[in-house]
Amino acid sequence: MDLYEYQARDLFEKHGVPVLCGIVATSPIQAEHAAAKLATPVVVVKAQVKVGGRGKAGGVKLAHSPAEAGQVADDILGLKIKGHTVRKVMVAEGADIAEEYYFSILLDRTKRRYLAMLSKEGGVDIETLAKERPEALVKRNFSPLDGMTDTLAREMAREAGFDAVDVDKLVPVLKRLYHVYTAEDATLVEVNPLVKTGSGDIVALDGKVTLDDNAAYRHPDHAALEDHGATDPLELKAQKMGLNYVKLDGNVGVIGNGAGLVMSTLDVVAYAGEELPGQPRPANFLDIGGGANAEVMANGLEVILGDAQVKSVFVNVFGGITACDEVAKGIVQAFRILASEGIEPKPLVVRLDGNNAELGRSILSDANLPKLEQADSMDDAAHRAAELASQ
Ligand SMILES: Nc1ncnc2c1ncn2[C@@H]1O[C@H](COP(=O)(O)OP(=O)(O)OP(=O)(O)O)[C@@H](O)[C@H]1O
Ligand SMILES: [Mg+2]
Repeated sequence: MDLYEYQARDLFEKHGVPVLCGIVATSPIQAEHAAAKLATPVVVVKAQVKVGGRGKAGGVKLAHSPAEAGQVADDILGLKIKGHTVRKVMVAEGADIAEEYYFSILLDRTKRRYLAMLSKEGGVDIETLAKERPEALVKRNFSPLDGMTDTLAREMAREAGFDAVDVDKLVPVLKRLYHVYTAEDATLVEVNPLVKTGSGDIVALDGKVTLDDNAAYRHPDHAALEDHGATDPLELKAQKMGLNYVKLDGNVGVIGNGAGLVMSTLDVVAYAGEELPGQPRPANFLDIGGGANAEVMANGLEVILGDAQVKSVFVNVFGGITACDEVAKGIVQAFRILASEGIEPKPLVVRLDGNNAELGRSILSDANLPKLEQADSMDDAAHRAAELASQ
């Protein structure tokens, strides 16, 4: 889960990383009040969106009075930045910036290590810096067993060109940021810019944090950071049902068992749709997993049929541990459940293969379900489902 800047700021504060005060506002009047509360000569109004480059897009602006903060917030709220509409701003204390640096810690999967990066030239687009002047970006892989030690932080700061005084100020902040990374089970902690103020203090002015969803069970407090307003309502519904569902923009609903099979089903459907009128494409990813029962199948169908864009559904099951007759029974039951809930079925193409496929197919044909067709192969089924969506 990616966090908003204000959430990252809160986590930084919790773990003792120096930050400035910031107050979230969702309207110009709230922004004006926030600025009045901060009572600093200058405040910064910052768009809260989960994409980079907010400054360049006009999403970060200074204001010199509460009234001006309100006006600036009015300009920024509703702005579209890289496809994300700004619904919240953070009004933050204006910093007295002497220098802007860059620091990040992330998970380097290929090296099976953490990676820390530090540069004296922050505030800029770090990808460009890494490409054009790689020598200005100090990169160090380190083991989670060692962590961000004093020695490592010191070496990095020296190598990046900081003088002795700045190194001393920087080291504890880098270690605190590493503490945020481990204590919160993050996979990314990035600060751009990390600034030195006029009085020589180090402050994190902007933060990007990605939390590891696999560790969510260790952090009940992280649930509160989820942004339900920004999540697709169908994805939210699927999440509540415990389904592995991702909404896509096409019109062929896809259900399969196993992430690999579902991924390849998406490809086959997209491929089949290419030559058809309207070029039907997959409407979603939905993996019902191994051992799926009737209820899971019904829930999956309910979510997919709830998508107004869906015109046909392709159920692709390869029976392994899950026997096809169980899946077939699940589909039959799912139809019953959906009918009782008054949900209209849409054309459904089913391909069953593997464990007990024969039995599964006969259960489906005996049930005589409305708008249900069976296909022998994955290709045929994908073609038929795409064809039905294109009609
Ligand atoms: N509290 C602040 N006080 C003074 N200036 C600030 C403050 N916050 C940000 N700035 C200035 O605005 C610039 C951009 O801010 P910030 O890094 O938060 O946004 P961004 O880099 O454009 O967005 P993103 O990091 O999403 O790409 C900073 O480099 C800094 O010069
Ligand atoms: Mg930034």
